[in-house]
Amino acid sequence: MLSQLKVGQFRCFEKFEARFEPGINLIVGPNAHGKTSLLEAACLLLRLQSPRTSRLGEIIRHNERGLLVDGHFKAAHLQFYYSPQRKKLALDSVEQRTASEYLKLGRVVWFSNQDVELVREGADVRRRFIDFVASQIDPSYRKALRDYEKCLRSRNLLLKAPVPRWREIQAFEEPLVTAGEQLIKSRHALITALRPLAQLAHANISGAREKLHLEYLPNAAAPLAEALAAARPEDTRLRMTTAGPHRDDLQLLLGPAPATLGSEGQQRTLVLSLRLSAARLLEAHHAEPPLLLLDDIFGELDLSRRAALLEQLPKNAQQIITTTRREWLPPELQAHVLDLESR
Ligand SMILES: Nc1ncnc2c1ncn2[C@@H]1O[C@H](COP(=O)(O)OP(=O)(O)OP(=O)(O)O)[C@@H](O)[C@H]1O
Ligand SMILES: [Mg+2]
Repeated sequence: MLSQLKVGQFRCFEKFEARFEPGINLIVGPNAHGKTSLLEAACLLLRLQSPRTSRLGEIIRHNERGLLVDGHFKAAHLQFYYSPQRKKLALDSVEQRTASEYLKLGRVVWFSNQDVELVREGADVRRRFIDFVASQIDPSYRKALRDYEKCLRSRNLLLKAPVPRWREIQAFEEPLVTAGEQLIKSRHALITALRPLAQLAHANISGAREKLHLEYLPNAAAPLAEALAAARPEDTRLRMTTAGPHRDDLQLLLGPAPATLGSEGQQRTLVLSLRLSAARLLEAHHAEPPLLLLDDIFGELDLSRRAALLEQLPKNAQQIITTTRREWLPPELQAHVLDLESR
């Protein structure tokens, strides 16, 4: 469990320290008091990434150079410093050259009141969800994703030349294809594993009125090398790489219909089920529940969905829950409270 979290120059915090207990932790406070920021810091500490954004520069406190997150998770002391110029990682005060040992320690599932964007927004939001979970299941996923993105940037840059030099472009294709194929394989395996878990969670929360279906939609249907070759005329015309896993999507259906057509409540139930399926999968895969970070989601759920969610969350998982109001909490629920009101 996460027992202590310190942040420095992190969003609205110049410096702040929080302690957490096993079980349920509540962060309570009015709007703009740093509740979401603290949850994000916990996520960054364990996973070295934000669940909200891939641009870490945004979460450095305005006019400061770099941010620091520091904390104790299980028996380990984790430290991460980030600035656009420099990243520094330490595990038990020993600086780490790579993140691989560090990232083995803790897993996180993030639930947020913004989650309906998984249904409503573009494919990039769903890919971020997939990537976030996949990299917690398969340690080599993160590297494959980075390699892929790097090769893709280089390839796109070469495609911008007035006359693309295909021989040079081809030189980037081999590592691009290797990394890309790995992403496709891992994503396929992930969605296959999440599907029944999400369907079960969905049936339990919604009372099984309509069936949830998840389908991985790889952009490159053929082997990636063939898809790239076939897309050359299009790539030349548009001067960018048009085929590959950077355009993958996750299709969400309620019964036969796209989830975008569902009601507000149906969409909220769907995204809860997705997040729960990730928690269940991580719990099964690592034989321990992930840390659950729940950002302001209970306030807007109706009573039955609130109860169903509490019931569905992995037992024994440490939970950090933010809220502006405490009223919705069942009185019998024991929680450690961190009050940001007076901050
Ligand atoms: N990079 C930054 N530097 C300084 N302040 C920031 C930065 N990013 C965000 N903030 C500010 O941090 C404050 C706290 O934001 P946060 O989202 O954590 O609040 P919150 O308590 O979750 O509020 P709400 O209840 O509205 O969700 C906000 O006023 C926000 O504008
Ligand atoms: Mg918030």
